[in-house]
Amino acid sequence: MRIGALTGGGDCPGLNAVIRAVARRAFDRGDEIVGVLHGWRGLVEGQFRPLGPIDVTGILPRGGTILKTSRTNPYKVDGGVGRLLENLRRLDALVAIGGEDTLGVAARLHSEHDVHVVGVPKTIDNDLSGTDYTFGFDTAVAIATEAIDRLHSTAESHDRVMVCEVMGRHTGWIAVMAGMAGGADVILTPERPVTVERCCELIQQRHAKGKDFSIVVVSEGWELRTESGAATLVESGAADAFGHVRLGGVGEALAREIESRTRFETRVTTLGHIQRGGSPTAHDRVLATRYGLKAADMVYAGAWGQMASLRGDRIEAVPLSDAVAELKTVPDELYEQASAFFG
Ligand code: F6P
Repeated sequence: MRIGALTGGGDCPGLNAVIRAVARRAFDRGDEIVGVLHGWRGLVEGQFRPLGPIDVTGILPRGGTILKTSRTNPYKVDGGVGRLLENLRRLDALVAIGGEDTLGVAARLHSEHDVHVVGVPKTIDNDLSGTDYTFGFDTAVAIATEAIDRLHSTAESHDRVMVCEVMGRHTGWIAVMAGMAGGADVILTPERPVTVERCCELIQQRHAKGKDFSIVVVSEGWELRTESGAATLVESGAADAFGHVRLGGVGEALAREIESRTRFETRVTTLGHIQRGGSPTAHDRVLATRYGLKAADMVYAGAWGQMASLRGDRIEAVPLSDAVAELKTVPDELYEQASAFFG
């Protein structure tokens, strides 16, 4: 059997651990594993790289993806799906490792063309329905938490407000988890319509209690809103092939508002791609490895159109369509718990 594997969308710590696990299962069965380079683009263009045991040795702790990645949508490439299907004839099965967009394409290829594909859910944003957690998220939270810890001492020394902008697209998972772990004084997420006025009020409350510094964690997808004005989603780039605009910059805009309204000196740190780079945490290495092993087992079981999913402590197979059914947002209860420490 010749099993292909591809990684699509933004890179994410743990991708190499998945590739290694799929490959190890295939080698144990005497089967071949072929890497498809640059996500769906590589399948359209026929960029294949056979992987041997040496290729996957030592990659478990490595960040990024040895297969490279892209945000190519084959449905938006002229003749893309036709060429992709032609190239797929060189494989018996495909493991697609990606987020909403990559898995959305996989689900569509399966339902429209009966493609022998299984999925593995990845994203630092943790916004995929159909699984409890995606790998990469724990690493992003750990990186953001460390940053918040470090911001505390400099904020305190200067009596400043520190705004820390984190990723997460249209959900606040990273903001809430890192904010809670780092003891943030205000957390602003896309799910909650908190106003600039309320944010400033919380900071003022802290000062009234004798706490002269504050840490504000803001999700890139939080809409900047004031009581009188409209809400603004701050964008930093054009839409990709899946229609997602690039987010980023809301931290700067928020800091200006805080400084002008409270008169407290305010600084901004935008964590950006640091949250996605480098080695995965132990938790993500284990989760990614378990996902990879399950995906290989699903290939051998012919569980096409399914995705490896974490349910409690178990890794199970669920329909790919579940993964892309809806955006998994931060539950109100979790946000309420984080907000117990605001102000
Ligand atoms: O989906 C993962 C993610 O890191 C988002 O949190 C972020 O908005 C986006 O990707 C950034 O994408 P790019 O790597 O294209 O700048």
